[in-house]
Amino acid sequence: VPLPKDQSAATLSTLSSQLGDTLRRAADDFDGQMDKTLLVYPDKARARRFLLVGVGEAGKVDADTLRRAAAHAADVARQFKAATVAFTLPDLSLDADTSGQALVEGFMLASYRFTRYKSDADPYTGAERLVLHSDKQERVGRRGAERGRIIAEAVGTARDLVNRSPNEKSATQLAREIEKLGKKHGFEVAVWDKAMIEEEKMGGLLAVNMGSMEPPTFTILEYHPENAVNERPVALVGKGITFDTGGLSLKPTPDSMDHMKADMSGAAAVVGTFEAIARLELPLYVIGFIPATDNRPGENAYVPGDVIKMHSGKTVEVLNTDAEGRLILADALSYSKTYNPELTIDIATLTGAQVIALGSEVAAVMTNETDGADERLEAIERAGRRSGDLVHRLPMFPHYAKQLDSDVADMKNIGGREGGSITAGKFLEHFVSGPWMHVDIAGPAFIQKAKPYRPAGGTGFGVRLLVEFLRDYAQPKKKGK
Ligand code: BES
Ligand code: MN
Ligand code: ZN
Repeated sequence: VPLPKDQSAATLSTLSSQLGDTLRRAADDFDGQMDKTLLVYPDKARARRFLLVGVGEAGKVDADTLRRAAAHAADVARQFKAATVAFTLPDLSLDADTSGQALVEGFMLASYRFTRYKSDADPYTGAERLVLHSDKQERVGRRGAERGRIIAEAVGTARDLVNRSPNEKSATQLAREIEKLGKKHGFEVAVWDKAMIEEEKMGGLLAVNMGSMEPPTFTILEYHPENAVNERPVALVGKGITFDTGGLSLKPTPDSMDHMKADMSGAAAVVGTFEAIARLELPLYVIGFIPATDNRPGENAYVPGDVIKMHSGKTVEVLNTDAEGRLILADALSYSKTYNPELTIDIATLTGAQVIALGSEVAAVMTNETDGADERLEAIERAGRRSGDLVHRLPMFPHYAKQLDSDVADMKNIGGREGGSITAGKFLEHFVSGPWMHVDIAGPAFIQKAKPYRPAGGTGFGVRLLVEFLRDYAQPKKKGK
C-alpha cells in the first residue's frame, strides 16, 4: 500500500472499513514519509500481511518514487517468501498506466538476483504473481503493469549478460546469446565472423582484437514490423568490449580492471532494448550493431604509436590502447551508414571521465549539431527522467576536437586530460553523418553497492532509457514536434 504524507490517515481509514480496525490504529504510527515502511497484520483481510510504504509528499510522487516503494515490497516479499503480492494503485496525479508500470518495474528490478555461479542459491526468485487493485482505472493500470513486466525482464537480460563471468563471455559466446534472444523474442540476428570483418575492412575492431586469443564478432540486430511508422531505421550501436584489460596500456586491478567484464554494458543495453521493443510490438523499424572483442596485451597486440586504417578510410594514431571503445564504435557507426538511418544512438561504457563529471547514477549524452539537436537532447533527457535511467547533456563545441589532432595521421585516439568524455564524443562524431546521439554509461552501468531496485553488479542501465525514448519517438509525429 503506497501511502503519501497527509493522505495516509484517510486512505487507511477507508481500508479499515473493509479490513478491520488494526489498519486504523496503524495509521497513528505511520506518516507516509518517503522510504518509511510498516508491516501490519489486519484481522479480516484476505492478505496475510499489509506493508505500508511511505512515498512522501503527494504532489511530488513520480514514477521513480513508486519504483522505490515497490522495491521495499520486494525486500519484504523475499523475507517471507511470498508467492503473491498485491499493490493498491495510489490515487495520485500520476496516471494509472504509468503507476502500474512503475510498481511492477520497481518490484521486479528489486527482486533480481544473479545466481548463475552460486551453489547454494536461494530458491526463491521473487513473487510468482503480482496483482493490481484500484477503485478506478484498474484496466489501464494493468496495461502499464504488463509493459513494466516486459521492460523489467529485458533489464534482467541485460544484467545477466553483464554479470556473466569473463571466462564465458568471448565475443563469439556473446553473439550466440544474442542469437538465442532474437529467436526467443522475435528479432533478426546476423553474426559476422572475423573473415567478414576483415572483408569489410573494420580496421578499428581488428586492431583492438590483435592481442586477443579469441576472434571478434560483429552482430547485426533487426526489428522491422510491418506497421512501422518510419521508412529509414533508427540505428542503435552498443560497445561490446567483453573484457577491457586496457591492452598494452594496461589498467591497474583495484577499482579499474576488476570491473571491466562490464565493458559490454552498451551492447547489453541494445540487446535488452530489442527484447523489450519486440515483445511490446513497438511500430518502429530499428537496427542494432554490436562490435565485440576483448582488449588484451597478447603477443600480437596493437601498440601505442600504431597508425590504423578505419572502416571509413580515415587513419588513426593509437596513442593509448585503453581508448579502444571509440575504435570499435567508430567502425560500427561508419558501417551503419549503409542503412541510411534517420537517427543513430550509440551507448557505451566509454570514459572514466564520465564518472568524474556526472557520478554513477547519471549518464552523459552528446549530440552532433545537425537539425533538431536541442529537441533530441530534450527528448532523451525526458526519457531519462521518466524511466529513471537519468541522462544529462555535455557540450560539443568544435574546439574540443582540436585535442585529437595528430602529427602523423588524420587523428589521435586520445585527447588530453581535459573534457575526456567530450573528446571521446568528438572522436565518434567524425564517423557519423546524420542525426546522432552518444550516451556514455561508464558510471551507471555497473555498481559495487546496491541502490534502490538495483542490486550490486550490472544495472542494465540504458534499457529503460532507450525503450522510453523509442516509445515516445514512435508516437505518430505531431506537428511542430
Ligand atoms: N572501458 C573504459 C572506460 C570505463 C572506465 C568504463 C571506468 C567504466 C568505468 C574505456 O575503455 C577506457 O579505458 N577509457 C579510458 C580512455 C583514456 C585512455 C583516454 C579512460 O577513461 O581512462
Ligand atoms: Mn579501455
Ligand atoms: Zn573500454
